[in-house]
Amino acid sequence: MVKQLNLTKSEQEYARGKKLTPGAVLGIRRPYNFVEGEYPVYFEEGKGSRIIDLDGNEYIDYLCAYGPIILGYREEEVDEAVIRQIREQGFCFSLTQSIQNRLAEELVEIIPCAEMVVFLKTGSAAATLGVRLARGYTGRTKLIRCGYHGWHDWCVEVKGGIPKKLYEDVYEFEYNDLAGLAELLEEHGDDTAAIIITPIGHPLGNKIETPAPGFLEGVKELAAQYGSVLIFDEIRTGFRVALGGAQEYYQVIPDLALYGKAMANGYPVAAVTGKAEIMKEAERNVFVSSTYFPNSIPFAAALKTIEIIRKQNVLADIWEKGEKFMQDLIDLTVKYDVGAEVSGIAPMPYITFKRDQKKEYKEKRTDFYTQLIRRRVFMQPYHHGYICYRHTEADLAYTINAIKESLAYLAEKYN
Ligand SMILES: Cc1ncc(COP(=O)(O)O)c(C=O)c1O
Repeated sequence: MVKQLNLTKSEQEYARGKKLTPGAVLGIRRPYNFVEGEYPVYFEEGKGSRIIDLDGNEYIDYLCAYGPIILGYREEEVDEAVIRQIREQGFCFSLTQSIQNRLAEELVEIIPCAEMVVFLKTGSAAATLGVRLARGYTGRTKLIRCGYHGWHDWCVEVKGGIPKKLYEDVYEFEYNDLAGLAELLEEHGDDTAAIIITPIGHPLGNKIETPAPGFLEGVKELAAQYGSVLIFDEIRTGFRVALGGAQEYYQVIPDLALYGKAMANGYPVAAVTGKAEIMKEAERNVFVSSTYFPNSIPFAAALKTIEIIRKQNVLADIWEKGEKFMQDLIDLTVKYDVGAEVSGIAPMPYITFKRDQKKEYKEKRTDFYTQLIRRRVFMQPYHHGYICYRHTEADLAYTINAIKESLAYLAEKYN
């Protein structure tokens, strides 16, 4: 029997936080999105693949800050590049520093669809600019979407505080459902400005879906047929699945694409890239500006992160480790037949539980992730994981053993 973690300080801080910030912490970081009482609420530090919570518990981390950590926490070369930028030049000015062009040139070279780039600071802002460019370019109103694109009015799932008119022209289709998309286009195609989709399907709490043969190609064909702008939301897949993202990996090139997360190993930056003809809408017709968009701290981080990814063949390393990890996971879920399912791709593995009528899968999920966190493996019950460069063979072997013990616990309890 593995003991529950001591989380006293985390709980105290959480109680304090609730008086200061609604819910104490935001959105997906709230305790009900993990296993309440079993997971810490606050982390204090991280290094490489490890994180330490407020009570001093150390974990091997597989959530990677929800995606930005592609190398590891506190990656010295990246942090040094940032510190140099701060100390030697500064980063916040009334005009833009030329480092922006250096990073833009990198993106144009790396990303297949990229002819021009606009930098922002968050994925949500990038997604909103992407659809605004598409609406400006086509003169059309409607959007068809598939996947999570952030918290802005047109796409957020929780509708509180948002007038209906701000999202009533937005239609959703399911990942891998080409017929569903075709049907929507038949009805709305003439006024559809953009089809925006995550090139890999990763709905919260559900298995990751990779594209069925012909799916992404089919989406692209339909977009072209109706004259809609095709936008790939590569916020999770960019600089991870391949340097240029899923479009490079699957060889399906959209009109526009959004990048963020892994691009700068944790420093806040996002980008909209794509065909110059569409991007140029942002010269006059489409407005985009923010005090902080040209702030250059993350540009220095991104340039260094990209340099390291290239120099040290980081993505090949992640794929290799991730493939072995996924195979080990699959073998374990077969051996311990408790309804656990492995989905995803090597850089983004996920363990979910087969849905059953009695809804026992929910209890199994809670038990499994409780056993894992008690063994100091930090994974998210409702969100897929990530493999980063600093995960060592020993980390992965330890984790596989912890997963084995957790599945064995379930087998004993449920079978
Ligand atoms: C696919 C995708 N698009 C957009 C976003 C929004 O990005 P941000 O949280 O930086 O606003 C996210 C965030 O998780 C995401 O996963």
